[in-house]
Amino acid sequence: MPERTRTIVMTGATSGIGAHALQHLTAQPGTRALIGARPSSARPASPGTEVLPLDLSSLAEVRAFAAAVLGRLDGDPVDVLVLNAGTQFMNTRARSADGYELTFAVNHLAHYLLARLLLPAVADGGRVILTTSDTHDPRVIRSAPRSLDIDAWARPGGSSLVAYSASKLGNLLTAEKIAVLPETAERHITSIAFNPGLTGGTGLSRSAPAAARVLMQGLRPVFMLLSRFRPALYMNTPEHAGQTLAQLADGTFTPPADRVYASLVRGNLEYPDPSDLARNPAARDEMWHRSAELTGLTRQE
Ligand SMILES: NC(=O)c1ccc[n+]([C@@H]2O[C@H](COP(=O)([O-])OP(=O)(O)OC[C@H]3O[C@@H](n4cnc5c(N)ncnc54)[C@H](OP(=O)(O)O)[C@@H]3O)[C@@H](O)[C@H]2O)c1
Repeated sequence: MPERTRTIVMTGATSGIGAHALQHLTAQPGTRALIGARPSSARPASPGTEVLPLDLSSLAEVRAFAAAVLGRLDGDPVDVLVLNAGTQFMNTRARSADGYELTFAVNHLAHYLLARLLLPAVADGGRVILTTSDTHDPRVIRSAPRSLDIDAWARPGGSSLVAYSASKLGNLLTAEKIAVLPETAERHITSIAFNPGLTGGTGLSRSAPAAARVLMQGLRPVFMLLSRFRPALYMNTPEHAGQTLAQLADGTFTPPADRVYASLVRGNLEYPDPSDLARNPAARDEMWHRSAELTGLTRQE
């Protein structure tokens, strides 16, 4: 009997790590990828890919994208939901369409809403993967959150480094909460928060001055040397990080039971403890409930 088509829904598939992951995933026969992308994004040429409009800076667009995905699925399940898009700015003055600080809105709030809207469509035995970052962890970035301050993070102003770390903590706590939902256990859904680690040559630092970006790439050997003492400074390639993301998505790699955080440490996939805050059930639940309020989720959703 022919195997049914495997359906992947993905954000952040048009550049960097996600573009490489998409190439790996769609190289496997019988794969259909529904990806959300802005009109200005590069159009992936991968076979089996359908591009639907999505700007994560607007919660209305997130809802429209989720509805469009459900329409295209026509009752078929989503085998893998890969929430990989991300952005980083030099300051926190910009607001989303809904008035929230743009980094926190795009990286966390939009993906939180998308996960909530599409989780019911994820297949039994399916996977949900959010791309997080080790910069959520004060052991890596000293200014990363040690306690929750969700309302402050959602407001423009403040440090851009904190905004990025907080948004990636949001991704991690969302994955942790999905992992313990009764429906996830009943339906054997695997929830993963993937940290690609420092990865040079992607578009993430595009808002940084060109000279800083060139310098960063030129300093790759220095980073590699320093990573002997500080593993977080090991600089991965987008190809390797993308391949690992695809392998987590296609089931080549599965975290051990009770582990959600999957991290590239010096280029190798490990399942270490995330930060203390990311392992705190009260923080996990507070992020989940406050994000529902901030994204306007109703009780029925
Ligand atoms: N690079 C690193 O060192 C590093 C380290 C740890 C974690 N990460 C995480 O890895 C993920 C991928 O990042 P990357 O390094 O591959 O960067 P990238 O090349 O800039 O890719 C980011 C992706 O997100 C999409 N995106 C950004 N803003 C969006 C929006 N408002 N609406 C819809 N899509 C949007 C981009 O679409 P466009 O093509 O339209 O720009 C692109 O496809 C991110 O979640 C990032 O936080 C990266």
